[in-house]
Amino acid sequence: MAAMLANLVRPIRTPDFTRNKLSPTPSRTNFRCLASGKSGERSYTLTLLPGDGIGPEVVAVAKEVLSLTGSLEGIKFHFIEMPVGGSALDAVGVPLPDETLNTAKNSDAVLLGAIGGYKWDKNEKHLKPETGLLQLRDGLGVYANIRPAVVLPQLVDASTLKKEVAERVNLVIVRELTGGIYFGKPRGFGTNDNNEDIGFNTEKYSASEIDRIGRVGFEVARKRNGKLCSVDKANVLEASMLWRQRITMLASEYPDVELSHMYVDNAAMQLIRDPKQFDTIVTNNIFGDILSDEASMLTGSIGMLPSASIGESGPGLFEPIHGSAPDIAGQDKANPLATVLSAAMLLKYGLGEESAAKRIETAVIETLNRGFRTGDIFSSGTTLVGCKRMGEEVLKCVDSLMPASVTI
Ligand SMILES: NC(=O)c1ccc[n+]([C@@H]2O[C@H](COP(=O)([O-])OP(=O)(O)OC[C@H]3O[C@@H](n4cnc5c(N)ncnc54)[C@H](O)[C@@H]3O)[C@@H](O)[C@H]2O)c1
Repeated sequence: MAAMLANLVRPIRTPDFTRNKLSPTPSRTNFRCLASGKSGERSYTLTLLPGDGIGPEVVAVAKEVLSLTGSLEGIKFHFIEMPVGGSALDAVGVPLPDETLNTAKNSDAVLLGAIGGYKWDKNEKHLKPETGLLQLRDGLGVYANIRPAVVLPQLVDASTLKKEVAERVNLVIVRELTGGIYFGKPRGFGTNDNNEDIGFNTEKYSASEIDRIGRVGFEVARKRNGKLCSVDKANVLEASMLWRQRITMLASEYPDVELSHMYVDNAAMQLIRDPKQFDTIVTNNIFGDILSDEASMLTGSIGMLPSASIGESGPGLFEPIHGSAPDIAGQDKANPLATVLSAAMLLKYGLGEESAAKRIETAVIETLNRGFRTGDIFSSGTTLVGCKRMGEEVLKCVDSLMPASVTI
């Protein structure tokens, strides 16, 4: 242990940033959305992983929305449903069966509901539903997590912030998902020289890891309002110093994107003080974990927030940010809109089907404009509906082309 700890404090060579070249741009990224002008009928295989709790309820709605959207946009979807999480544990004894992972890998994109529930809470770690989700992300090699936080005008009162601060917030956090302190070695428990218990972890990023997530950040910013804020702790952490250096170097590839840098403590503060200043944020795993949860709460509605996780190649993973909500599972109370919007992200970021994605986003906004609300976003003067009815109302709007008013 002493040797391990010595490693932690051993002076490390200061990187010669001037000799560093940018990692080559990957020949193929998941940003197939950059290809435009799709025509003719397209066909995609989608793996659906309903999972546990409210997962099957919200995925069923998203599947119908995808099917109808596809038929209106000249896209054919072949859906394959597979078990994951607790339902897979019950069926075959593991949270991520090989068949599920292989099917997911061989498809064009993966849509997940949610996993977990009281029933499996006391399972050993390798038999927990959450382990299946981590294995899935790992198996698909998804290293970039993209999470929008949009305060829709219809739901501005759901935010805990003052209306004038919350309204018109529309930002995206791009979080590195497979590196940094959550995975860095050495890690573990031990004792120090005073025989006191210690726990330790390692924040570590390579130049190529930073470059690839940085490129995702720039690409997302480029498709939005061209403003990218890179969040780090470069005043204290060496891993952040390299992060800032690499992101700054990457900026030369994206002259159309305005890059700024911010320390994470300030970013946490600014997100509450003046969230409208942000368009796209790119950050490491741990900072992204915390800031994306903070940003999601700006909107005040967990049932509305989608996410996308993408890799260098292969299918992306698209899922609502909420969990399996066991307290309302099976009661037709779940808000399906986060999963429906995850389906829109699947179309936009996973398949490059921007027009179809826009149709779904517009349909969600129109459904809210028409006053329909599930319990989590209900306020007086609106119409309280269940999960299924909300789905039916979205389908009606998908069916009628409406002008898009907000980009999610
Ligand atoms: N990605 C995932 O699959 C994921 C993420 C988070 C938690 N979980 C798991 O989900 C289980 C429950 O976790 P939790 O209670 O901490 O978080 P949760 O997100 O499931 O629920 C938190 C609260 O929000 C409500 N809620 C969540 N989604 C909703 C929706 N779509 N519509 C209406 N209300 C909604 C729930 O009823 C609950 O009151 C746990 O087993 C946890 O491990 C899974």
